[in-house]
Amino acid sequence: MKGIILCAGKATRMYPITLSTPKALVGVYDKPLIYYSLCTLMESGITQILIITPPGKTEWFKELMGDGSQWGLSIEYIEQSVPKGIADAFIIGEEFIGKDNVCLILGDNIFYHPEMGKILSGAINKLDGAVVFGIYVSDPRPFGVIEFDKDNKVISIEEKPENPKSNYIVPGLYYYNNEVVKIAKALTPSARGELEITHVNEQYLKNGKLYVEPLPKEFIWHDVGSAERTFTASECIKNIQEAENTIIGSADITAYKKGYIDINKLNELAEKMNAAEYGKYITNFCSNKITV
Ligand code: G1P
Repeated sequence: MKGIILCAGKATRMYPITLSTPKALVGVYDKPLIYYSLCTLMESGITQILIITPPGKTEWFKELMGDGSQWGLSIEYIEQSVPKGIADAFIIGEEFIGKDNVCLILGDNIFYHPEMGKILSGAINKLDGAVVFGIYVSDPRPFGVIEFDKDNKVISIEEKPENPKSNYIVPGLYYYNNEVVKIAKALTPSARGELEITHVNEQYLKNGKLYVEPLPKEFIWHDVGSAERTFTASECIKNIQEAENTIIGSADITAYKKGYIDINKLNELAEKMNAAEYGKYITNFCSNKITV
């Protein structure tokens, strides 16, 4: 399965922070926002990744992540010249996707659970069309909202409804079979002028091929769309890392844990970051492993 990270939006709701810096490169606590999406793809077992970048910004992303080989990944970049909506990712990425299945993650969505790898691979195993997730939020109005019938069967998904039919929303992580390219190409823009991901999901639902995996209550999810939400997400990551002496969204450690790089490579990656707590944590992690 291939992976796409969509980072192309203008992020006007975060101005002036994002007037020059792409949102996906803004820091969330101790690492760039895009690292969290990258780790979610790695936790899904995906190593071939396309990053869709805002116009004129690819070099910024390349400077941070290069071709991904330092993490045992292959990373390619392509710019989205005009923001045409989330589903446009499958049209832009058609050649990259080829004949494979594809996972799309939004570059501003953070997912975390200590058992995330297990939960995601369990869901991927059910892929027979599309797999998306359902998560409870207190205010569902800014999202894709799921409607269930009395037997808990999904009967509709509505994009940003004024009167949501439930508190369950679809977060920005989607797995599709190859048919998604054809489905995306047949879409017409919504009232807000975008090719909506919700319309892609509706199409799979209509074909009886949409599986919605409910995420456990304690699953952490953040949509980092404003300064306030960036702050909340940073605080949440900091609190978990300190309480559990762990690190969330480290592309370096995740690459090691997935077996894409060895401990010597991890140590080498950490070396240049040893002035930061992030680098110190990894160096310490390596020395504990080496002495074990
Ligand atoms: C998008 C999707 C929406 C989804 C959300 C998750 O909204 O359109 O269905 O629930 O991402 O973050 P947007 O970020 O475009 O407002």
